[in-house]
Amino acid sequence: MSEDTGDVKQQRSTNVTWVESAVTREARETRRGHRGAVLWFTGLSASGKSTLATEVEKELFSEGYFSYVLDGDNFRHGLNGDLGFSPEDRTENIRRVGEVAKLFAESGALVLTAFISPYRRDRDRVRALVTRPQDFIEIHVSCPVNVCEARDPKGLYKKARAGEIPNFTGIDAPYEKPREAEITVETDVGDVKTCARQVIDFLRTHEYISQKPQPRSNKG
Ligand code: ADX
Repeated sequence: MSEDTGDVKQQRSTNVTWVESAVTREARETRRGHRGAVLWFTGLSASGKSTLATEVEKELFSEGYFSYVLDGDNFRHGLNGDLGFSPEDRTENIRRVGEVAKLFAESGALVLTAFISPYRRDRDRVRALVTRPQDFIEIHVSCPVNVCEARDPKGLYKKARAGEIPNFTGIDAPYEKPREAEITVETDVGDVKTCARQVIDFLRTHEYISQKPQPRSNKG
């Protein structure tokens, strides 16, 4: 099993200056009527991260909120297409996603990220990176590995068991469960609607969005 080295790439850019936005985050949030934040879904492959993030996004969008899903598989087609699944590459993957997610939150979005993000240290770095402590909501998408393996929608567990995918999370690469996630959903117990409701309820209770459901937009 590989060990997490936790290394982060060195900064090589020099002579660069931060340019402040002319529009404040507060102004953006006031106009949109909700707070920006990163909803960080973490869990095993096939635990339901993408399904759940997509369901929550749909609900938020239909109530008129600015929400967007950043998905692991999609990112690895583009921005992170140069990264594999070694501990170092996973760390770099999560570092880049964290930076992008932070920008989304600054723009006033409720950004939902669906990455295995197996290392606690990588997730904690994103938590430390965001502007306000409440900007980072860690959502543990909990599901026993045998249930994920039985689901196996992409046939990857089967391949991993056959030795065709080395370092597969949950088989021969580690997954470090969150110790203090803001939300834990158990996708082997509740269905997707129930788990999505749990996330939306958290957002309402903690005043990220309006406490009352907003009228549904017919564009949603
Ligand atoms: S992470 O570990 O770096 O956070 P990420 O969420 O981006 O992973 O990508 C996970 C997806 O890549 C899985 O859902 C699966 O489709 C695919 N994948 C390919 N190889 C592996 C592997 N060795 N371990 C886990 N997932 C893999």
